Amino acid sequence: MVKKFKILSVLIACFININHAAFTYDQALANCDKLNLNIQKPDSDGCIQTLNKKGEVSEVFDYAMRKFLIFSKGKRVLEIGGCYGDVMLLALKKSEATKYVLSDLDERHLFIAAKCLYEKIKQNWLDPKSSNQVEFVQADITNTLQIQKLGQYDVIYVGNVFHLLTPEQFELAVKNLFLLLKPKGQIYVTAFSPYLKPYKDFIPEYKKRVKTGKKYPGFIKSLGDYVNIDGSIPLSIKNMLGDPFFSLDVKTLRGTFQDNGFKVLECKYVPFSRKSRLWSYDGKEYVIIIAEKEAASD
Ligand SMILES: C[S@@+](CC[C@H](N)C(=O)[O-])C[C@H]1O[C@@H](n2cnc3c(N)ncnc32)[C@H](O)[C@@H]1O
Repeated sequence: MVKKFKILSVLIACFININHAAFTYDQALANCDKLNLNIQKPDSDGCIQTLNKKGEVSEVFDYAMRKFLIFSKGKRVLEIGGCYGDVMLLALKKSEATKYVLSDLDERHLFIAAKCLYEKIKQNWLDPKSSNQVEFVQADITNTLQIQKLGQYDVIYVGNVFHLLTPEQFELAVKNLFLLLKPKGQIYVTAFSPYLKPYKDFIPEYKKRVKTGKKYPGFIKSLGDYVNIDGSIPLSIKNMLGDPFFSLDVKTLRGTFQDNGFKVLECKYVPFSRKSRLWSYDGKEYVIIIAEKEAASD
């Protein structure tokens, strides 16, 4: 009896794990209306909050994103954690030949992204045919059972997602990203470094950990331990005070990608994409990586 129960539990767990969902433009748009979701507006700092309290979306584009937009023209593209689809809209504008899969943990973000695309078509900013270029996929990049279409993407973009993962999830995500890319496919990543204003009190601890050679020195178990809770912290950080936060550095990012079969083309610190009184610190707020999946040797 106990054995039967165990088998049933495993089967249920498997079903839950593979329960990701894909939507066409029409389906995503219909769901947006059905759930009465609205296009979100930026706050006074120029940010738009996520619905699942997983940070915020910036409307200004950074170094890796700009390079990704050039490389992605006419290609088969996957964006992880793409939220409301701001980058997707620009990629569609750049080429009618691009095929774009917008993926996110929260399907409501994808439904709103479809609505944003609808608005851009209505304003004649995009061609109506651009709706045939997109697909929306709700999935968790750390869950190997939810990863579909392995080896089919020419290029992947991951913007501001890794800080939401634990080191173990981060390792899994990089492995899954490798599986999703075609040989010679490229990945573009923007991640938060430890040099951000809201948790600047963590920097001395981070530096101490680097000196002692600790693995994943930028990982914070509970963000609230390093943040001064006053009026000057961004709302997205207030929402995450009890959560872990994984800031990355060049050594960790480069090492993890290399260990998982990527050839690193560029990895460096870059400034925050916009002047922000809440976030900007010293011009090294982001760490980016651009890497290529090495072709298998014969
Ligand atoms: C801070 S927002 C970044 C949005 C956008 N990429 C940007 O740079 O402005 C993080 C997004 O990643 C999504 N996300 C978080 N964890 C994820 C995971 N494990 N797999 C896929 N998406 C995830 C969240 O739902 C959210 O939409």
